[in-house]
Amino acid sequence: MLKIALTKGRIEKKMTETLKKIGYNIDPLINKDRELQINIEDKMEIIFAKSNDVVTFVEHGIVDIGIVGSDTLLENPFKDYYELLDLEIGKCSFAVCSYPNFKNIKFNRRKRIATKYPNIAKKYFESKDEDVEIIKLEGSVELGPVVGLTDAIVDIVETGATLKANGLEVIDTIIEVSTRLICNKTKFKYKKEEILNLIDLIEKYKVTRIIVSIH
Ligand code: PRP
Repeated sequence: MLKIALTKGRIEKKMTETLKKIGYNIDPLINKDRELQINIEDKMEIIFAKSNDVVTFVEHGIVDIGIVGSDTLLENPFKDYYELLDLEIGKCSFAVCSYPNFKNIKFNRRKRIATKYPNIAKKYFESKDEDVEIIKLEGSVELGPVVGLTDAIVDIVETGATLKANGLEVIDTIIEVSTRLICNKTKFKYKKEEILNLIDLIEKYKVTRIIVSIH
């Protein structure tokens, strides 16, 4: 039995599709209500958690593997796990976003940047030799410029719909983001076969998908 921590929300939806495509009966996932733990075919025990907690559960060996966005891994880079696979789902990008006239404004003070990812934002602006003030928000980061708290944001952009709906746009793309499979180091020793089997199935699906899209 593989124990998996799955990031709630968008990644959960995409991973459910992946599990279906590789042959699992996903009815328990679709029919779940507020349960936080679900079993699939007595082969997988899945818990649903916030992204940072997925990493914590993996590191503490509560689960064998975690399914989490590379945004979370990049923001907290000194963690103790193996990153084994890019699932190539939940793709989006990190970007600096603001109003269209952002680049033309002459600031006579430090720019203020709202973000859920202060480390990534700090690193980005350091790489540009820019000293900015970073203000951490926990969600709906777009509110930063909308309410006048900040001049711009560093956030993930998927469809761009949230930006558009709030009159904002991408000023600069920082890095691409996708969903990763991470693994507890000790569990990998004991459950290597099971873990590699799952990775194999997902990889095969990825290959099939590429072939299908060529034809
Ligand atoms: C993320 C991100 C943006 C939005 C981007 O937020 O922080 O707000 O999705 O997606 P889009 O480009 O498809 O519009 P999420 O929905 O995860 O919620 P949050 O803002 O509360 O963090």
